[in-house]
Amino acid sequence: MKTTTRRRTARFLAPVFALALALSAGSPAQAEDPSLRDLADRHGLRMGVAVSAHLLDNARYAEIAAEQYNSVTHENELKWETVQPQRGQFNWSGGDRLVDFAQANGQDVYGHTLVWHSQLPSWVADGGFSAPELEGVMEEHISTVVDRYADDISHWDVVNEAFNEDGSFRDTVFYRTLGEDYIATSLEMAHAADPDARLFINDYNVEGINAKSDALYELASSLLDRGVPLHGVGLQSHLIVGQVPSSMQANIQRFADLGLEVVVTELDIRTNTPASEQQLQAQAADYTRVFQACMAVDGCGGVTVWGVGDANSWIPDVFPGQGDALPYDHQYQPKPAYWAMHEALGGDGGPGPGPGPGDGDCSVTYTVVNRWNQGAVIDVTVRNTGTAAVDGWSLAWTRPAGQQITSAWNATVTQDGSAVTAEGVSWNRTLPPGGSVTFGFQIAHQGQADAPSGFELNGAACD
Ligand code: G3I
Repeated sequence: MKTTTRRRTARFLAPVFALALALSAGSPAQAEDPSLRDLADRHGLRMGVAVSAHLLDNARYAEIAAEQYNSVTHENELKWETVQPQRGQFNWSGGDRLVDFAQANGQDVYGHTLVWHSQLPSWVADGGFSAPELEGVMEEHISTVVDRYADDISHWDVVNEAFNEDGSFRDTVFYRTLGEDYIATSLEMAHAADPDARLFINDYNVEGINAKSDALYELASSLLDRGVPLHGVGLQSHLIVGQVPSSMQANIQRFADLGLEVVVTELDIRTNTPASEQQLQAQAADYTRVFQACMAVDGCGGVTVWGVGDANSWIPDVFPGQGDALPYDHQYQPKPAYWAMHEALGGDGGPGPGPGPGDGDCSVTYTVVNRWNQGAVIDVTVRNTGTAAVDGWSLAWTRPAGQQITSAWNATVTQDGSAVTAEGVSWNRTLPPGGSVTFGFQIAHQGQADAPSGFELNGAACD
């Protein structure tokens, strides 16, 4: 019997919703480059990100999550201690918030996680349940959560982190009470609740071929032989710069050869903090390696990065002195790792090495959006094509004869004779490397609306 239902809506909505959100957020960055999600869509790949629902209050965080990723994973909101902190008391607030966000932005949702020893409330972990009682507790939890999101969540990490490093089963309340069959039982329960969901076992330190991934491989093979509904394995991929396993592609391939989907579910690649430029470059090369390993294998469904930016990563709390592991930095600016993913997915890899803005690394696009006898509406996009951020941009040009600017938006525009200057406003004043900003204005003219030439960004000429 269903104890809870959600509004039923389509799993995917048109990408126009993402565009609408980007515009309403004032989206300054990467307007001219395809986003990661655009590129991933061309390959049919998941390009996901772990999101904390409460951080969606941060407009820049939400903007990146919506614009760059075609899939989201709840970082914590669907874990047992959050969803069912007391027996029979379900809390959907964070879970629903991110599902609603994903639907508004045409994104898939990857469900994380149903049966895990961590973030498990003590009423389960220390409940002293007999085997049949614990099965009942699991059934109620799994069926309630999976059923609620049956129309919203396509994939589930059903069992998380079942193994020790040596490949033995982890000693958890589930294993102690039910033996290794708790894994098959969990998969069966999830399948019964949503026969369309793709069901995964997820773990860390199983990216390369080693004792732990061997054990996962043996388990997956045996579950498939027994007809248990298992559809994939998640390789979490909490990695360290310089230590992407050389056997990662071969490992993905062997699981794919079983007919399973493989997803890199929680990618981050940490380093000592603060990371040097050299470490960031080495990290970017490691991001490339992970994408190459996935994209070389047909059965690899894609990659999810474990967080939007370095400011919100779990790593410094658990590994003090380490972090800087994600594609966006503490100020939510794209790092070399971002451009490594971009290039691996077929993009141009963003700004190459160069002297940076202030030395002419900028380009300007001038678009007549609407024109009538004695007026016109103009959009100007200025792009930082250098490698350094421009904090406080100012674009100058000479107004063509016979034209007068009468109003402007998304920039402060001033005129001194024929000299015009547009400056960024509070929310778009920083232009990251590869980023762009679009502002607009209306002109009065005397029958012609020719574009000016000779734009300068902070005193240096632009293309
Ligand atoms: O919500 C409480 C808050 O009320 C309290 O004031 C605060 C004080 O510490 O803690 C908050 O809970 C934290 C929670 O994240 C939500 O932010 C926990 O302390 C903290 O331990 C928890 O960390 C999460 C961790 O899983 C728990 O094991 C991380 O955010 C999350 O990124 C991490 O994700 C895991 C995956 O689920 C599984 N694979 C490994 C990965 C990294 O550890």
